Amino acid sequence: MKCYRCNLWPCNCGDEICILCGNCLDFAESIDGCDLTLTDPPYKHAHMDGGGFASERKFYAGGALDGLNNFDVQQYEAVLINHAKMLIAFHSRDLIGDYASLASRHGRKYDLHAWHKTNAIPFTANTWKSDIEYIALVWQSKPGWKQLNQIMHSKCFSSPICTDKHHPACKPIPLIAKYIAVLDAKKIFDPFMGSGTTLVAAKQLGRKAIGIEIEEKYCEIAANRLANEPRPLF
Ligand SMILES: C[S@@+](CC[C@H](N)C(=O)[O-])C[C@H]1O[C@@H](n2cnc3c(N)ncnc32)[C@H](O)[C@@H]1O
Ligand SMILES: [Zn+2]
Repeated sequence: MKCYRCNLWPCNCGDEICILCGNCLDFAESIDGCDLTLTDPPYKHAHMDGGGFASERKFYAGGALDGLNNFDVQQYEAVLINHAKMLIAFHSRDLIGDYASLASRHGRKYDLHAWHKTNAIPFTANTWKSDIEYIALVWQSKPGWKQLNQIMHSKCFSSPICTDKHHPACKPIPLIAKYIAVLDAKKIFDPFMGSGTTLVAAKQLGRKAIGIEIEEKYCEIAANRLANEPRPLF
C-alpha cells in the first residue's frame, strides 16, 4: 500500500494530503488521526430524478462501479463511522432514513442539511425534480467550532452545479470548505473521494486530509488538482 501521489507509505506529501487508490473497505487500518469524515458516497441510483444528475446516470451504469448503484449505508458503516467523531455525508432523498438510523444505532446525534442547486430544473411534466441534495450530519462530538458569519452557519447552501467537469458528481469547493472551516477540522477523511474536492478544500484551508478512490482515473484528476493548488499563505 502506498500514497498515489508520493508513492510512499506512510505518505510523505509535503502538504500532508494523501490519496489512496482502491476500495475504501480495504484500508481500515491505515486511517488514523482524523477528526472529520466528509464524504460523498455513490448515490442510490434507481430513483434519481434529474435536476442535475443527468450525466451520473451514464457514469454509474456499468464498468468498475457495477453493483454500487444502490449504495448500502450498512455495508460501509464502519468506514463511515469509525475513523472520526463526526460524519458529514452527501446523499439523495432515498437515503435520509438510512443515515438517521445509522446515527440512532450508534447513539449519535443527527441533523440534515441541504445544498440547493440554483441552476437545476426543479419542476417538469407536473413533477418536482430534485434541485436539492441532502447532507447528513452524524456526530458523537464536533471536531471544534468557529464562529463565522451567519451564511456560513446556515443549514442550507445555495450555489450552481459545478461545471468544471472533474467528475459528474463534483461538489462545490466553497460548500466543502464551509464545513471544514465552521467545524475547525484539522484532518479530514474522504473514503469516496472522486475528483478530490474535499482534499482541495482541505489544502486551501491548510488542513491535513486523506482520500480514497476506487477508480484510478479520478485519483489522477485529484492528484493534478492538488498539484495546481497553491499552499495557503497562513
Ligand atoms: C459521488 S462520487 C464523489 C465525487 C466527489 N465529491 C467530487 O467532488 O469529485 C463517489 C466516488 O466514490 C467512488 N467509489 C465508489 N465506491 C468506492 C469504494 N468502495 N471505495 C472507494 N471509492 C469508491 C466512485 O468511483 C466515485 O468517484
Ligand atoms: Zn503522499
